[in-house]
Amino acid sequence: MEAPRKSLLKLKKKQIAIKVKGYRPTKDSEPYFQEYKIPLKPDMVVLDALNYIKDNIDGSLTYRWSCRMGVCGSCGSNVNGKPKLTCETFIDDVGDNLTVEPMARFPIIKDLVVDIDSFMTKLKDVKPWIINETEKPIEKGENLQTPEQVDLYKQQSMCINCMLCYSACPVVGTEDDFIGPAALALSYRYNMDSRDQGEKERLKITSSEEGVYGCSWIGECTSVCPKNVDPAIAIQKLKLTGSLQTIKELLLPKFVK
Ligand code: SF4
Ligand code: FES
Repeated sequence: MEAPRKSLLKLKKKQIAIKVKGYRPTKDSEPYFQEYKIPLKPDMVVLDALNYIKDNIDGSLTYRWSCRMGVCGSCGSNVNGKPKLTCETFIDDVGDNLTVEPMARFPIIKDLVVDIDSFMTKLKDVKPWIINETEKPIEKGENLQTPEQVDLYKQQSMCINCMLCYSACPVVGTEDDFIGPAALALSYRYNMDSRDQGEKERLKITSSEEGVYGCSWIGECTSVCPKNVDPAIAIQKLKLTGSLQTIKELLLPKFVK
């Protein structure tokens, strides 16, 4: 177990150095680190440090953020080599040899901003919405669920689409078409919803070559998730339901809807 870190402020540090990876595709042949010195404040998170640099040292530094409270999912970066939400990562917890890089496994657009188009396409592909032809119209009242029914999908529904799990996944790094952890976990989330009837439709996609069978079950997706979603387990469960569906279709084709 790692020894608890002493607060940098308690060590009487007044400022820290932070190395941020920069890249301007129109003028740089490759990304490079730039070092900034910033004043240390109590409870400072990495996003505060980036905002300090932007406001006081280098206004051209480019990165994404919005909510500042771990909800919007837009501030993901690699902090000291690990995928993290910069708004939730305290500088005291990562120490003073601080490096911030764009999320790995995504093409860089500028500085810390990456191209998320392929993730957005994969997300849409798994149909992460309720599919139900017979659902009663809203005017006829709510579609109630029991707490037990909600428990079946609640954990996997906490995803904020931050993509840290893609940045951590070794398969995403080698197989461009792999649907990937968050999209597969969301597919499982909707399959488990008692209001949904789209499981068969989604299984066709998630049981394809680009789907669950690409997963090498390293589990990095689950360990880096800031919202306690468990894509690794969702993928294994999708494997099981996909295989059972195939067996049913082979042995009992007449009874499979
Ligand atoms: S599963 Fe977790 S790490 Fe992956 S996108 Fe969702 S919230 Fe982020
Ligand atoms: S700024 Fe919204 S999650 Fe970090």
